[in-house]
This record gives sequence, structure tokens and C-alpha cells, in this order.
Amino acid sequence: MLQNWNKKAVLDLVRHKFSDHVFVVASNRQPYIHKLSRGKIECFRGPGGVVTALDPIMRELKGTWVCCGSGDADKLVAKNSKVKVPPENPSYQLRYVWLDKEENLGYYYGYSNQSLWPLSHLVFVQPQFNDQNWKIYKQVNRKFAQNISKEIKGKKAIVFVQDYHLALVSKYLKEINPEVTTLLFWHIPWPSYDVFRILPQRQEFLEGMLSYDLVGFHIGYFCDNFFDALVNEAEAKINKEQQVAVYKGKNCLIRSHPISVDFEGISKDAQSEEVEGLACLHREEFGLRGYKVIIGLDRIDYTKGIVERIQAIDKLLDTHPELKEKIIFVQMGEISRIHLSQYKQLNERVNTLVEEVNFKHSQNSWKPIIFLRRHLNFKEILAFYKIADVCIVSSLHDGMNLVAKEFVSAKRDGKGVLVLSRFTGASRQLKGALLINPYHIEDISEALYKALTMDHSQQQVRMKKLRHQVQRNDIWKWIGQIVSEIPQEE
Ligand code: G6P
Repeated sequence: MLQNWNKKAVLDLVRHKFSDHVFVVASNRQPYIHKLSRGKIECFRGPGGVVTALDPIMRELKGTWVCCGSGDADKLVAKNSKVKVPPENPSYQLRYVWLDKEENLGYYYGYSNQSLWPLSHLVFVQPQFNDQNWKIYKQVNRKFAQNISKEIKGKKAIVFVQDYHLALVSKYLKEINPEVTTLLFWHIPWPSYDVFRILPQRQEFLEGMLSYDLVGFHIGYFCDNFFDALVNEAEAKINKEQQVAVYKGKNCLIRSHPISVDFEGISKDAQSEEVEGLACLHREEFGLRGYKVIIGLDRIDYTKGIVERIQAIDKLLDTHPELKEKIIFVQMGEISRIHLSQYKQLNERVNTLVEEVNFKHSQNSWKPIIFLRRHLNFKEILAFYKIADVCIVSSLHDGMNLVAKEFVSAKRDGKGVLVLSRFTGASRQLKGALLINPYHIEDISEALYKALTMDHSQQQVRMKKLRHQVQRNDIWKWIGQIVSEIPQEE
């Protein structure tokens, strides 16, 4: 029988399966960040599906989340490098791993984001490798393992590690605590073997990953690519049917579980008076009343296709000048990884392009693009989803992309169109979106035109389909399925 996952079912399962275990999550970013604001310390919850799914489990099991402290007040609140969260009801703890500048440069900016990130995303940005960054990446992974080990102290433990920053943690942890059960979720694409084989440290890297008891990816295609890498580079026995690799006598399960969002929560919050009020404020502040609104929301990253999207707006207004003074495109974007030259250049490129397109097409007091760089909290983002007639996700390559799923969840009235890149993990599930090739400017521009001129009944048919898909495959299904698969010690 198919299990119907919801928050309660997931919590019942973890209570039943793991109440006598120490539960540890490890990730580069923290689920709560402490910041100084006008002399006061404020604590904010991080965005995204991982925190939504794991925060209630951590509360239930009183676990520990091991992470880097990147907030300017994290050190101030920590005692012995630990702090209890959430502030309104402290129920589990964060254990900080403090990195010095050299570690941050070698592990985060260097190996994670100049080697693994471009290697995993097929966007024609050449990954860079140097032995020093690899050395520091391993050193920081070991540091995480040592911190996790302090929490376990020989007890039964489940350690759930997030993402490409920490691929080797299990290997170092099991050197100290061989009995611990470890899981890794790889949140970005896994490249095809033709690409993966350029990683100089590929064998050692795979060996590290095989020390996990379970490795998760968003879609089957990434699992297949991972199997190809193992077949070519690792001395592991592969059983693709059972989705398992056996390495040095130990099983590593390899599974696909598409991450998602809290559909019911978002759907409900988007109807709240607070969000309705914020939507009114946005309409006033940005002069959106009477216009068809297209939105985009991304970290400013070269994988997101932001330049191509702006070029498509330009093209759209060239081919359909009747849309002038009728549409506004609001691009929201937070600066990211700005110490890397590609990100600096991208920012400059986007700034220039927005100015050029606005200058070229502006008429009277109207201009087509608003580029919003300020930080928006989730309610303010929900208000933009509510206002939007069209949401565009044009990633050149993306593991999943949760913006697409959030937009759909917020559209309870069924109005609105999702324009979605074919090269996102989300496009495999979200039938009902207008799919685009994000490299093909005419294709994006025509999809935008189709979205802007689609009648309401067509929109509702598509949106109903989309909402059904996200509702059936929400964040509780993601975490419920992973937790059910966690192998238990004999
Ligand atoms: C994207 C990816 C995540 C990754 C994150 C890191 O959102 O989908 O898998 O962890 O980027 O971003 P950061 O700002 O921490 O470098």
C-alpha cells in the first residue's frame, strides 16, 4: 500500500524508529542564523525545503545540527560552540564548526564552488582544480566529522549530511565511530561520466561517498550518472535493479527522492491576511497595479539563466511592442558567492543588461524591468507569488528548483502560469508548466508571450494539474521516504 506522507506520519515514524538514537544533521549552512541588527541580536530561520523538513524532526528527537556559523552574531550566542534553537521554543541544538579564512577559501569558495559546483552543472563554466583546495576540503570534512563524533559518544546514531560540501564526512566519521549510520543527500545534479571523469580526485571522492549507507539524488537520471561513475572508477559491485553498490563488503543504497515544499503550509499562508496586505504594499511600492506581472526569483548564479531571461524580455518587447506599458518583470535576486570572479562578472553583466533593456524600451514613466536586490522574507516572497501572472524559472541546469514548486503552491485560485526550464529536476514532475529551452532566447520569449496571453480557463486547467502534482509529492513525502529507507543496525 502506498503510504500517505504528512508531517504527523513522518514524526510518528521517527519516534518509532529512532527515539533511542542520537540524530545529527550536518550541512554547510545553518538552519537558524543570528544577526546583529541595531545593537540587538536577532535569530532568523533559513529558507528552503531541507530546513522545513528537518526542523520538526530535530525538535522531536532533540537532535544536533552541525553547521558553519556565518551569522555575525553566531559567535556571540554560542556557549562551547553550541546554541539551542528555535529561540521561541529551544528544543534542539546547533553545534558550530568555525572556519578560518583559509578554510573558507579552500573548502567553500574553492573546492565546493569552483570545482564541484561547475563540474556538476552543465553550463559551460570550466571547473578549476588545485591540490591545496582539495586538501582543505578534506580537512574541513574531517573537522565536521570530529564535531559530529563529539555528539555521538559511542551511542546509536543517525547522521544525515547535506550536499556537495560534505561528501567525505562519513568516511572520516566511520574511522572514529564505525557503527554510525550515515546518509548523504546530494542536492545538485550529478554529471554524466564524460564530465565527471575530469575530476582529478574522482576515485578518492567516490570512495568517500560509498562510505555512506545511503546516497540520495533528486531524480533517477542523476542516480544513473552516479552508477556510471562507479562502474568506471570504483571497485564496487553494482546492482542497479536493487539500487545498491557494495564496496569493501558494505552496502551503499543509491536512491532518487525529489525534494519539494510544504504545499499545504504555503497554500494556507498565501491566503492569509498578512500576505494579502503585503501584496497590496508591493503593488503600491513598485507601481504594479494594472500591469501583467512576470516574476523571477533566484540567487544570482550563472546556473540560473538570468541573463538569458532578461534577453528574452528584450526580445518579447521587440516582437510584441503592443506589450509595452502593459507588463512588468520583477526579478528578485540575492547576491551570492561574490568573492568569486564569475559571480562578480555576472552581477555586473546583469546590472548593465537591465539598464540597457530598460533604457531601450522605456516609455513615459514605464520601464519593463524592476531588479530587486533587497532581502525579502518568505511572506514578502509569497506576496509576490500571489501578485504574479507568470513565474519564470530559466535555470540552465538545476538539481530541482523549489521556486517553481513554491509558486504553484501559492496559487490557490488557479490563476498564473509557470514558465519552466526543461533542464531543471522540477520539469520532470511539473507537467502543466510551459517548458522552455533556456539557451534559446526566442523560445523563452514566445513562451512568455503565450503565458501572458493565456485565457483564465486554460491557466486553471494547467495550474490544477500542477498543484495536484506538488500536493502529492510534497516535502513530507521526500523526508518520509528517506527516513523509511534508513538502514537499521542488526
Ligand atoms: C543551491 C543548491 C543547494 C546548495 C546551495 C548553496 O541552492 O540547490 O544545493 O546547498 O545552493 O548555496 P550557498 O549560498 O550556501 O553557497
